[in-house]
Amino acid sequence: MTSDDPPDSTDTTDPRTLPSMPDDDVLGGPARRRGPFRAGERVQLTDVKGRMHTVLLSHDGYFQSHRGSFRHTELIGRPDGSVIDTPTGHQLLALRPLLSDYVLSMPRGAAVIYPKDAAQIVQMGDIFPGARVVEAGVGSGALSMSLLSALGEHGHLISVERREEFADIAIGNVESWFGGQHPAWEVRTGDLADVLPDAVDPASVDRVVLDMLAPWENLDAAAEALVPGGVLLAYVTTTTQLSRFAEDVRTSENFTEPRAWESMVRGWHLEGLAVRPDHRMIGHTGFLVTARRLAPGTTPPRRKHRPAKGAYPADAEWTPEEVGERAVSDKKIRRVRRDVRRRAVVEQTGVASAPGPGPGAQESPD
Ligand SMILES: C[S@@+](CC[C@H](N)C(=O)[O-])C[C@H]1O[C@@H](n2cnc3c(N)ncnc32)[C@H](O)[C@@H]1O
Repeated sequence: MTSDDPPDSTDTTDPRTLPSMPDDDVLGGPARRRGPFRAGERVQLTDVKGRMHTVLLSHDGYFQSHRGSFRHTELIGRPDGSVIDTPTGHQLLALRPLLSDYVLSMPRGAAVIYPKDAAQIVQMGDIFPGARVVEAGVGSGALSMSLLSALGEHGHLISVERREEFADIAIGNVESWFGGQHPAWEVRTGDLADVLPDAVDPASVDRVVLDMLAPWENLDAAAEALVPGGVLLAYVTTTTQLSRFAEDVRTSENFTEPRAWESMVRGWHLEGLAVRPDHRMIGHTGFLVTARRLAPGTTPPRRKHRPAKGAYPADAEWTPEEVGERAVSDKKIRRVRRDVRRRAVVEQTGVASAPGPGPGAQESPD
């Protein structure tokens, strides 16, 4: 067969032929993601102006909007990616929502972790198939779905939430996405520091992910639960939380040096010659901090310059060194001052070799 020949549908070695998979193979997998639209599933409709509506298809359902209306039965049985022409002459594009679409449209109790941060957590937290992971709090369950997708049915996710009503919302959202109870998911209500010691054996958890107001309150519980080398990851929204968490991680001496970062995703406008960044973007969501669990009894290598503990005592003076600035020597300041005076002379006289402000006045590279 040449590369121009059409693929033989019986040839399973052809890379263009998708391998067949039993429909119930993976929870939330191909059976729910492929094939024609079915009653009981969600569909995302986009009108010509780009406005989106999420619809739960039912045999007796009717979608109504001023940009077009139709009976759900017109969509049921049609392939994903179909366009509906409504009797009023409008067009609506119908697509199955991706996980990132669903997370942003599902009902929320607490604020959710955005898809861009969930992606970072899965990658940088190294959430692997079969991993044993603990997360707290569960909030609306957004991150739980990404963690479950990554660790799979042979892993184990314990999600701890102190507010029962939030745990209920999260369970509803997660089960709606996966189409039932995920076999790897366990939700516990209570405070993480109380729940964790009863929920897991010491040194048995691969990853701990904290998304809560005061993650530093759970450092001992996390250290006890994590395997040596396990990853601790926190998502915090303010610099003050970030600082407090990082300093407490150091002080605990149970972890490697914390690493912190944020991610910014800027969408692009693509239209003819107008190819440029979007005017608007989500400027801030949160910061991520990770550290690895040290082997018990190991002392972390000391840093040369240990910053002050991350609190703001009223009587303490803020020095440049404490906020991480490089000290500037008096010599350097004298030189810069001289350069500035010299520049002023040149600006006033227009002569570079004009008598300078004093002996030794000459331009010098920094
Ligand atoms: C921002 S929400 C989490 C959002 C969630 N990660 C998501 O993506 O949907 C923070 C949650 O942490 C819970 N929480 C705060 N401190 C907690 C603790 N010590 N133990 C358990 N849950 C806690 C709060 O009740 C809240 O629901």
